Amino acid sequence: MPSVCVNCMPSSFNPSRRLALFTLTTVFLIGIIYIGLFVVLTNEKAIPQSPFFGGKESTWLRADENTIETATALEMPTVADEKLLDWIKNDKRRMLHVVYRVGDLDKTIKFYTECLGMKLLRKRDIPEEGSSNAFLGYGPEESNFSVELTYNYGVDKYDIGTGFGHFGVAVEDVAKTVDLIKQKGGKVTREPGPVEGGSTKIAIIEDPDGYKFELLERGPTLEPLCQVMLRVGDLDRAINFYKKAFGMELLRKSDNPEYKNTVAIMGYGPEDRSTVLELTYNYGVTEYDKGNGYAQIAIGTDDVYKTAEAIKKFGGVITLQPGPLPILNTKITACLDPDGWKSVFVDNVDLLKELE
Ligand SMILES: *[C@@H]1O[C@H](CO)[C@@H](O)[C@H](O)[C@H]1NC(C)=O
Repeated sequence: MPSVCVNCMPSSFNPSRRLALFTLTTVFLIGIIYIGLFVVLTNEKAIPQSPFFGGKESTWLRADENTIETATALEMPTVADEKLLDWIKNDKRRMLHVVYRVGDLDKTIKFYTECLGMKLLRKRDIPEEGSSNAFLGYGPEESNFSVELTYNYGVDKYDIGTGFGHFGVAVEDVAKTVDLIKQKGGKVTREPGPVEGGSTKIAIIEDPDGYKFELLERGPTLEPLCQVMLRVGDLDRAINFYKKAFGMELLRKSDNPEYKNTVAIMGYGPEDRSTVLELTYNYGVTEYDKGNGYAQIAIGTDDVYKTAEAIKKFGGVITLQPGPLPILNTKITACLDPDGWKSVFVDNVDLLKELE
């Protein structure tokens, strides 16, 4: 007999029925409290949008997902958001390499190895895609950041645009490196000297395609290929995105009114042992021409699916849905940041297999 009928039988007060009635009441009361709490919590988030019930707020009654979406739009972290942010913080992330296109692979390899002291790590020809690529760096890809050069058959020139800034390389003696580069016919666009508003000695040179390299004088370092500098149109928006969606830390930020710019250094670890993303905002400049030379940064993750979910949630655009690549089977996902800069996340385990 269904327990709801307990009430319709006045003569039914035997102990077991009492217990049933008591249980039913308790469950009912807990239910009321639970719904009450839910309404209070949900409305707290809904208030900034509209102080009244109805309209969009009614979506929270329909599905949990809608609640999360509504709350995200209002930038109020939900429990689910907090969980995702926590996961990102604990994910095993590292800047792996930066990809860009060059007009003559051998010429660039020669320049990087002879003038910048890099090693050629791997090189492969992919005729079916009409391209070749080469990885160069200062140490093994398993632990060091590297550059991945792409050569597309028949394309010998690229437009670097105005948005890309430079790659940073830490060297022990900037003046000596610059001398060597000059000897080899390289182009120096800024002679060695202290950095704007600081004491670190730097110089800026250009590689055969015109990509700038900032040489920074530092003692021996675990990660000589230490920066990728990109210009952004809204620094706070970019910082917020790289913090939340990418799980990077803001390592330092400096406003330089005398040079009309603000710079933020972001990354997954301290600057002396991990490559950082340097974001530059030039006063009043909200958009840049990205050209067609610079491509993307690759970052390692333990889960490309969760990564893509987080990127979508925190303001990025997924341009390649997470999943395994054909043939290689490496799981990746690709996205654009709020300025339109591209990044690719690569599954850590799959990458190691690829490197074997
Ligand atoms: C880069 O590779 C070198 C050489 O193997 C190694 O000593 C160094 O620890 C690596 N850097 C990092 C950040 O792991």
